[in-house]
Amino acid sequence: MLTYDYSQLKHLRKTEILNEAKKLQKYNQQLHDKSGIGNDFLGWVELPTQLNNNIPAEWEETARRFSQKDCIVCIGIGGSYLGTKAVLEALKTPFGNQSPELIFAGHHLGTHYHQDLLNYLNDKDFALIVISKSGTTTEPAIAFRLLLNLLRSKVSEEDLKHHIIAITDEKKGALRKLADNLNLPSFIVPDNVGGRYSVLTPVGLIPLMIAGFDVKALINGAADMADLCHVKQSPENNPAIMYAAVRQLLWKQSKDIEILSATEPNLQYITEWWKQLFGESEGKDGLGIFPASLTLTTDLHSLGQFIQEGNPVFFETFLQVEELKQQIIVPENTDNYDNLNYLSGKTLEHINKQATQGTIQAHINGDVPVTQIKLQRLDEYHLGQLFYFFEKACGVSAYSMDINPFDQPGVEAYKQNMFKLLGKPNKS
Ligand code: PA5
Repeated sequence: MLTYDYSQLKHLRKTEILNEAKKLQKYNQQLHDKSGIGNDFLGWVELPTQLNNNIPAEWEETARRFSQKDCIVCIGIGGSYLGTKAVLEALKTPFGNQSPELIFAGHHLGTHYHQDLLNYLNDKDFALIVISKSGTTTEPAIAFRLLLNLLRSKVSEEDLKHHIIAITDEKKGALRKLADNLNLPSFIVPDNVGGRYSVLTPVGLIPLMIAGFDVKALINGAADMADLCHVKQSPENNPAIMYAAVRQLLWKQSKDIEILSATEPNLQYITEWWKQLFGESEGKDGLGIFPASLTLTTDLHSLGQFIQEGNPVFFETFLQVEELKQQIIVPENTDNYDNLNYLSGKTLEHINKQATQGTIQAHINGDVPVTQIKLQRLDEYHLGQLFYFFEKACGVSAYSMDINPFDQPGVEAYKQNMFKLLGKPNKS
């Protein structure tokens, strides 16, 4: 199971953390009995347990059909793509294409990217999964319009349903209307699950099933973590509550930034998903802990200096994988030109772990508060645990700041300005 290790934290006493965790238990209770703010969006709390491995046959059948394509483009932004991207980047090989290849679009307005994508897809057998809970978000809507045009130049109107899946609201929004008009296979984003909490709904599960990932293991991992983080557990045995307690106490010591430091590069998009979860959930009413991330050891050669000796406004949470599936052994070199023969016969995993320990020690010596999240292995089951752990900690943490973790009113500001500048008609 995932563990949260705060044993090296110098800035807080264990009793202090336990007392805070006991206080936070009431916020966990509110998530379960739906008595807190934003309680229309608590579907994610029981979701993994409710799914209970029962993937509907229709999901499996659609996934099987679409997995025959060369290429699948997932169109979405924020919570409508980051969970899928996080699992994909964590578990696939970074080299060469998987079959089907999963590509993302609609998560920005980049011209080069979208032009290159249109060129790339031109001679491919591709399908689109268009994902938008609201069905009205501009970035994915534009990408969909571009890609739909390309698709229409290749297949008949009647055939579009074999090339597009829509994942959206059950009843409302432009995407729902289009899906119904074109008779597309479509899946529902539950009303009571917000975008950034939706990785275990069709939003994440359908693309991941198409790409061949074991979504049952993902759900099982989340369900086991849901059990461990349930309000019936004592706070000290609940890793999400302990993590939330540490965050709150450090925030009260003016540690306004949390850095999530991933020790494997495959975890980079997990940190992106985490940034959205905590950033959009907590950053309101002039409050919140700013979520930042590092990938180790890469970023030690860019931001390491700041963390060691810069403005001490942050605390650091290391995200580590305990056992890797594969091992690489550093070879012996006869002339030892680089003086690295002292590492011959050692695994890269061992060296990376020593680098992590060295970094932890250095940052502690630099007065950075450090804790660690440890995943036993990097697979669907443990990623399921991690997603749920963070969701629960985020809900509890935001509630304890008296913040609604399930809305994002501030995201509207840039949209309104953009619409005005683009001359959007008032009534549309
Ligand atoms: O967490 C959220 O609700 C948001 O970040 C959304 O995921 C994001 O804005 C995309 O919204 P939609 O799925 O409605 O296109």
